[in-house]
Amino acid sequence: MVDFRGKFVLAPMVRVGELPTRLLALKHGADLVWGPETIDKKILQCERVENRKLGTIDFLSQGGSTKVPGVTNLVFRVYPPAEKGKLIFQMGTANPELAVRAAKIVVNDVSGIDVNAGCPKHFSIHSGMGAALLSTPALLEEILTRLVTEVGRPNGKPISVKIRVLENEQKTLELVERLVKTGISNLTVHCRTKNMRNREAPIRDYLEGILDHCRSNKVSLVINGGIKDRNDFIAIQEKYGMDVGAMVASEAELNPTCFRKVPLPWREVCKEFLEFADRFANWKGNSKYCLGRIVPGGDPIRRDLSSAKEHNDLMKLFEVATWEAPSSKENTPLDVNTDTTSID
Ligand code: FNR
Repeated sequence: MVDFRGKFVLAPMVRVGELPTRLLALKHGADLVWGPETIDKKILQCERVENRKLGTIDFLSQGGSTKVPGVTNLVFRVYPPAEKGKLIFQMGTANPELAVRAAKIVVNDVSGIDVNAGCPKHFSIHSGMGAALLSTPALLEEILTRLVTEVGRPNGKPISVKIRVLENEQKTLELVERLVKTGISNLTVHCRTKNMRNREAPIRDYLEGILDHCRSNKVSLVINGGIKDRNDFIAIQEKYGMDVGAMVASEAELNPTCFRKVPLPWREVCKEFLEFADRFANWKGNSKYCLGRIVPGGDPIRRDLSSAKEHNDLMKLFEVATWEAPSSKENTPLDVNTDTTSID
């Protein structure tokens, strides 16, 4: 079972957290990676398909948008050789029954199931999901308890939840005290309230109290909000303890190699991103979006990026050669470094 203690991890990020970004983060020292939030109903429409050509497990849906030419409605793609033991699937849900049914579809191909109880966006909260669950703790408890007993324990996989801090310490600790008793393995706390923007400084004043509840219930804690690099992670561990983990979102969106002691320069990041995107048939719209986050504002390459029509145009722009499948049936092992101590 995945142990979240002391881990430096890639945050769940809609659009950004698809396979190329996750592989890039793993290659450069992320201990665990979260997939982008996927809604329970979406997963319930999916069929699980083994993609022999790519060596991936694909979850394909009947409805929704088509992300990959030639592949119908790809919702979630996993590459087990690199992601085994490291991939946490994040679900958007407000319904215990749907949550359990959806989790059963993916559980064998991921290392853990996480519930999003922090997203403040309208599409989440209007249907009771995301940060809306912070105001319906009994429902959140029921979702987590049922996931633990009906999916997590029978399959030996951890169930976790990602929350935000509430408007004061007392309310935050009351919520945490309830959640850590549901049988979850890990709690991730985004140290901003649901009304705060990502550019605002995180509120870390309640962390000691949160940690007490976590430790006395054998639940690990991952801290999120305003963490930029490995030095921040080290500082967090020095302050709160070596069992505490740290999660990065915004900085990893700009540079998924931020898990290294010294992150790569952006051109190299773009190249490596495209190598993974090419090898795993990432859809062009997603590659353009992710590269658009990595290339610095004002650089002339942004113009060419936005006018790129084909994936090949992106490859040419960054001078990346197309990946060639090996002639043997075996997939070539990916260059994904699992020893974070050697990453500098
Ligand atoms: C996010 N965030 C987010 N959170 C979540 O629980 N599920 C999700 O799918 C997403 N999607 C997402 C997309 C993008 C582009 C960003 C920037 C953020 C929130 C994220 O995981 C994290 O909690 C916050 O961004 C705070 O961390 P940082 O940015 O301060 O490191």
